[in-house]
Amino acid sequence: MCGIFAYLNYLTPKSRLEVLDLLVTGLKRLEYRGYDSTGVAIDSPDSKNIVMVKRMGKVKVLEDAIQEHFTGGEYSEPVATHIGIAHTRWATHGEPCERNSHPQRSDEGNGFVVVHNGIITNYNDVKTFLRKRGYEFESETDTEVFAKLVHHLWKTHPTYSFRELVEQAILQLEGAFAVAVKSKHFPGECVAARRSSPLLVGIKTKTRLATDHIPILYGKDDKKQTSDQVLPRSDSTSEFMPLEEKEVEYFFASDASAVIEHTNRVIYLEDDDVAAVRDGTLSIHRLKKSLDDPHAREITTLKMEIQQIMKGNYDYFMQKEIFEQPDSVVNTMRGRVRFDGNAIVLGGIKDYIPEIKRCRRLMLIGCGTSYHSAVATRQLLEELTELPVMVELASDFLDRNTPIFRDDVCFFISQSGETADTLMALRYCKQRGALIMGITNTVGSSICRESHCGVHINAGPEIGVASTKAYTSQFISLVMFALVMSEDRLSLQQRRLEILQALSNLADQIRKVLKLDSKVQELAKDLYQHKSLLIMGRGYNFATCLEGALKVKELTYMHSEGIMAGELKHGPLALVDDSMPVLMIVLRDPVYVKCMNALQQVTSRKGCPIIICEEGDEETKAFSSRSLEIPRTVDCLQGILTVIPMQLLSYHIAVLRGCDVDCPRNLAKSVTVE
Ligand code: G6P
Repeated sequence: MCGIFAYLNYLTPKSRLEVLDLLVTGLKRLEYRGYDSTGVAIDSPDSKNIVMVKRMGKVKVLEDAIQEHFTGGEYSEPVATHIGIAHTRWATHGEPCERNSHPQRSDEGNGFVVVHNGIITNYNDVKTFLRKRGYEFESETDTEVFAKLVHHLWKTHPTYSFRELVEQAILQLEGAFAVAVKSKHFPGECVAARRSSPLLVGIKTKTRLATDHIPILYGKDDKKQTSDQVLPRSDSTSEFMPLEEKEVEYFFASDASAVIEHTNRVIYLEDDDVAAVRDGTLSIHRLKKSLDDPHAREITTLKMEIQQIMKGNYDYFMQKEIFEQPDSVVNTMRGRVRFDGNAIVLGGIKDYIPEIKRCRRLMLIGCGTSYHSAVATRQLLEELTELPVMVELASDFLDRNTPIFRDDVCFFISQSGETADTLMALRYCKQRGALIMGITNTVGSSICRESHCGVHINAGPEIGVASTKAYTSQFISLVMFALVMSEDRLSLQQRRLEILQALSNLADQIRKVLKLDSKVQELAKDLYQHKSLLIMGRGYNFATCLEGALKVKELTYMHSEGIMAGELKHGPLALVDDSMPVLMIVLRDPVYVKCMNALQQVTSRKGCPIIICEEGDEETKAFSSRSLEIPRTVDCLQGILTVIPMQLLSYHIAVLRGCDVDCPRNLAKSVTVE
């Protein structure tokens, strides 16, 4: 939620226009995180002041405004060292408007300017504290208190370094945040910090870096108390040398997709890390020392390719990601499934399998689409592990203070690995001694780092806000886990073979389903002017109904409901008449007869459903004039093939309705607030 991007060039001359270009490109990569309003801050031509441009709307609006605003030739002059910060917002405190856009400033003179992602929960208390000291607020944001608090500390503690000022401010704040701060009082310096919201630092140098680690430095209290009872000052002491390079560029970003075109060398900051660059030197500080802290933060090499974050020949990222699924499902299985030897190895959990086999129950926890992948695989997990399997929405799980035990195994499923509710639920379960397993798509994310073990779904970067390929890869990851758990169960070998066989055909079958695209587009033409769409199914396909309805809602703003066909006569049947659009999934599996009953109930109320059925199933097809035929696969993998027509359908309806497919209104891809 919200995207932060900051760029610092040290002894690598760039004009301000080039810097602005870099900032705007960075924001475009992060736009999926929020797109209500945007803003940038750079140095004025004489480098004595900070200039900000903020706009309501998407990054394109900001880009146009920048072109209008920075016309003078002085903006084309190269500057050896400069810091620019930028932000794309998903509003939480205060409506989307220029006043509430970031950067937020400390004072009229733009002494300190801040970009922020997350929520400062005690901002009202801090606001009251600052108001008493003469500060007047110009926005409704929680972020503004941060800028003004740093300013207040600077006035009361003139000897503090920039990093110390930010540290001291953070110590006063509660909640979840990632921030990047720029100041006219500390030219050439940038300070960034995180607590619960993601932030990484990309490093670009001309020659190979001399080190793979940045040491962690700790502050030390000197007992000096301020008149305002602000916490004591800290001085960093260290036996290590921070990263010093002569010519270097640093990128601070909410995620790796914004830096990959510049560098593949990044450091993922941890909670309570404060990263500061001064005289081109990066150092990482921690507010408190804890016993299990490592001595240094590792510089990791990103495996991502630039093409992965480009749209290529597609109109939208979502469309590209739907069509990537024949490859992404193979990438999820790559190096893990040996079809010749019928063996599966999940490297990230293999050492934990004996412990998992002894557990009392499996808990699968997630939000949105990730939750649906748990619903989709629950039945197979129950069958192959013979354990009770609970499937939970993270928010509801937390609301209920659900009892958790040491012998529970808890899965946290999240494409981004940063979803606040899922992360909170993870911490809740970890505190209670459960084994924590992360199923994520984002290497280095908070959920990855805080899990005991896990599976990376390896679907590649997913940029469209509505999740598609991550869903099918989460699905397969959970199926692979079920297969691992049943490896030594003789009675289940036949079933395992059947599933493995089906997995080996999956990519080709997905290709076949994708060929339905133009047929789905025709169906979309029938549907796009309607107000509602009911999607019915049961058994292994109930999750497709939920996920299909979510896609329709997210992308088209049409009402849609995923209905468990078994519940039809307990209420939803009342909605059915000759004008209500209905889609039903009726496949030849153990619940086929029950699905046929539901189909008959619908048609006898004059409903005219679109049917998703198996290739060549003439008997089922005969019930409707509109059907989509999908290839036959094993029952527990049907959900992968049935969800793809739903993804395509929602995509085409959204295009026909003129909706912004990649950036649906009011939504963001990564929800880092509770
Ligand atoms: C947001 C997104 C959904 C996503 C959900 C969970 O609501 O809009 O598409 O399914 O978060 O995200 P996660 O990254 O945890 O899978």
